[in-house]
Amino acid sequence: MPEGGDAITSHARTAVVVNRVCIMLQEITHNKLNLAVPSQDMRFKRRLLLVLIVVIVVIWLTSLGRRGTIDLPEALSPELEITALKQNLAKLSSECRSSRPSRFDPDLPVIYAITPTYARPVQKAELTRLSHTLMLVPNLHWIIIEDAEDPSPLVANLLKNSGIRYTHLTAATPKEWKLKEKESNWKKPRGVLQRNTALQWIRNNLKVDVHRGVIYFADDDNSYSLEVFDEMRDTQMVSVWPVGLAGGLMVEMPVLDPKTGRVKGWNSAWQPQRPFPLDMAGFAINVSHFLKHPEAKFSFNVARGYQESEILRHLTTPDQLEPKADNCTKVYVWHTRTEAPKLQSEKDLNKKGLKSNAGMEV
Ligand SMILES: *[C@@H]1O[C@H](CO)[C@@H](O)[C@H](O)[C@H]1NC(C)=O
Ligand SMILES: *[C@@H]1O[C@H](CO)[C@@H](O)[C@H](O)[C@H]1NC(C)=O
Repeated sequence: MPEGGDAITSHARTAVVVNRVCIMLQEITHNKLNLAVPSQDMRFKRRLLLVLIVVIVVIWLTSLGRRGTIDLPEALSPELEITALKQNLAKLSSECRSSRPSRFDPDLPVIYAITPTYARPVQKAELTRLSHTLMLVPNLHWIIIEDAEDPSPLVANLLKNSGIRYTHLTAATPKEWKLKEKESNWKKPRGVLQRNTALQWIRNNLKVDVHRGVIYFADDDNSYSLEVFDEMRDTQMVSVWPVGLAGGLMVEMPVLDPKTGRVKGWNSAWQPQRPFPLDMAGFAINVSHFLKHPEAKFSFNVARGYQESEILRHLTTPDQLEPKADNCTKVYVWHTRTEAPKLQSEKDLNKKGLKSNAGMEV
């Protein structure tokens, strides 16, 4: 905006100056016809004319320099002017969007995104991808919990450099619960301790009706459209929406009653008898509502796939759920999974006491 405005006023200014000069030229030529010797007044006017010419040349040169970046049309018809200004506005707002650190608006509820993570070859790649999505979300507070005794420099540096508001926690899963290398990933509950640690942080640090916000479980391997964050932000109790590529289906989602618009069932194929057969990425919880229910948390003692139902049974009933994403007709989040990289050659190197990434964070 300011750049465009300047350009227009400088065009107007040039016009005024050119007009003045024309009048003066007329006067001078008129005088010449009548007087042989230039008067004091004439000499002054000539000097003024010289100064004006210099000024005009300077203004003209500056406007030449600007034209490269602004592209204001020569003939300033109102339509062209509006189009040019709109282009400028779009350019500037896209620059604002990409500028870091992310904006914090006190009037907007905060999204507390909870991400459990653990050391593995793809960890930095996953967290980088997720952080670059979260950087674009206004009023987001990232709670990241490492399954480790101590915070790692990899995660600490990534958080520090992201410009996102964050809390960095650790919670080491007891040895007897850790997955063995070849064990299927669903045999033992994952992320229970880490997510509960984050929930406890929320209970210790946020206050009912003071902190307006929502809690969302954002695993580091999913793919998120920015729209999912807009949808969840005004959750009153618990909101739900479809999740792509989840539960063995293209989409797993709540089914709505077309008359009432409330959740009347689910389309899930895997363990559909679960009280809440949805994915961890498919719901958000109002912070105040959560704080009023101290018993709401995850548990080591529930069957596979029942973690979502375990926390939600303390917070809501299916008919109270708030459907989002255009009445659950849009997919804004996907339960993607990263293939474990094949690192046989690296293992061969390790046997010889070597590493391809010695001294290098990958
Ligand atoms: C959450 O619930 C509280 C209390 O009912 C309400 O004031 C607030 O607007 C709700 N939404 C958010 C995002 O905090
Ligand atoms: C969702 O459904 C309800 C009730 O069926 C309807 O009133 C509302 O307009 C719908 N909203 C959207 C965004 O489609």
